[in-house]
Amino acid sequence: MSGGPTVQITDSMDTVNEVNDENVEDIVDPWTVQSSNAKGVDYDKLIKRFGSSKIDESLLNRFEKIAASRGQKVHPFIKRGLFFSHRDLDHILSLHEQGKHFYLYTGRGPSSAAMHMGHLIPFMTTRYLQKLFDVPVVIQLTDDEKFLWKDLQLEECFGLSRENTKDIIACGFDPEKTFIFSDLSYIGSCKEFYWNMKRIEKLVTFNQVKGIFGFGDSDCIGKISFPAIQAAPSFSSSFPHIFNGRTNIPCLIPCAIDQDPYFRMTRDVAPRLHLSKPALMHSVFFPALQGAQTKMSASDPTSSVFLTDTLAQIKKKINKYAFSGGRDTIEEHRKYGGDCEVDVSFQYLQFFLDDDDELEQIRKDYSSGALLTGELKQKLIKILQELVGHHQAERAKVTEEVINYFWRTDKYACSEKYPPLPKGSDKKKKKKGTPKMKEATDEIGNLKVTRETT
Ligand code: TRP
Repeated sequence: MSGGPTVQITDSMDTVNEVNDENVEDIVDPWTVQSSNAKGVDYDKLIKRFGSSKIDESLLNRFEKIAASRGQKVHPFIKRGLFFSHRDLDHILSLHEQGKHFYLYTGRGPSSAAMHMGHLIPFMTTRYLQKLFDVPVVIQLTDDEKFLWKDLQLEECFGLSRENTKDIIACGFDPEKTFIFSDLSYIGSCKEFYWNMKRIEKLVTFNQVKGIFGFGDSDCIGKISFPAIQAAPSFSSSFPHIFNGRTNIPCLIPCAIDQDPYFRMTRDVAPRLHLSKPALMHSVFFPALQGAQTKMSASDPTSSVFLTDTLAQIKKKINKYAFSGGRDTIEEHRKYGGDCEVDVSFQYLQFFLDDDDELEQIRKDYSSGALLTGELKQKLIKILQELVGHHQAERAKVTEEVINYFWRTDKYACSEKYPPLPKGSDKKKKKKGTPKMKEATDEIGNLKVTRETT
């Protein structure tokens, strides 16, 4: 950057690269989540670093109103702040209030057949939002990503997409309004998706992906262009069988915050393609059994409760590995109480115990020492066993035909809601004074932490 004066990026601009803060110890990117603090990642700091916005009381109140009008409740993940950050969620709620269309997009990188509880969070949330708003959902399985990043063959990655589809379907998505796709299978069959990839690839330089994702000279070229593939589903024209070629149906992406870099990039290119920026809602990470310093990881079996675990295994794992905020002896615990902020079992209850009053009572009793760690774990074990048992029963119902149905690429019945418009008429109008492509590219090409004033 040349030496001139700099200005801080304002809220209305998306920061493509995160704003650096010298005191940041937490590592959060699509590949690593690590905090040195037992309470886990400092999420308020992360909001500042990423330049996103907090899901605050007023947004929650709007959610409350919408849910009440549909005879539903706000999902505990949202109400309890486990989805804590967003970009343009207020805009999506306004669209809904005005009776306008939008759709939901989420995804998974299928790296192992056994999914764990943490993997369910975005899918359970997206399922809930689909029901609340009655909107289409697209779910991307990035088997191509896993091929590039892991020591796996294409055949294996593709097979994992089919396997993981069963777990996703088991979450209860509406078969008439949900499209689940494997990149390895769909992209080759849909020119519109591929063309969007190319449009995105043309607008992002190597310099930018280096800055955003930390790619280096020895990364294979597949990795370098991959972000365009994760960006493409943010645009409705990538799904002609659902949206009839309509280019501007807005998109809301529920995801864990580590996926944000992909969508900072997407939001940066969207206006230059005269398309809407996708909105986002970000979740916290699901803590590993050993503590909130890192998230559950499928590659460490003792860090996770798997959806394939037996009821006995769940019990054993929680009892043996779930990091406790309790005291060393019963006497001490009774005297001083436990620490809910670091207690993994309590944190899991925050995710999965629906009853607010009961959760509050447990928090009080554990903090005061009235409730012992063993008793707390007992409550959690019961809830997880029910949840996993239910999941396994639903998954067992998913046949090859059901998978094929969710993967279909012929016209969806709900596509009638999106009648094709005359060519070009649903593109965003080019605003007067919008920078020309070259200038805009140069601008973010130079963008690190600050933008230069002219
Ligand atoms: N890259 C993600 C992963 O490894 C998968 C993914 C693709 C995704 N598209 C997404 C996740 C959209 C959230 C939202 O898990």
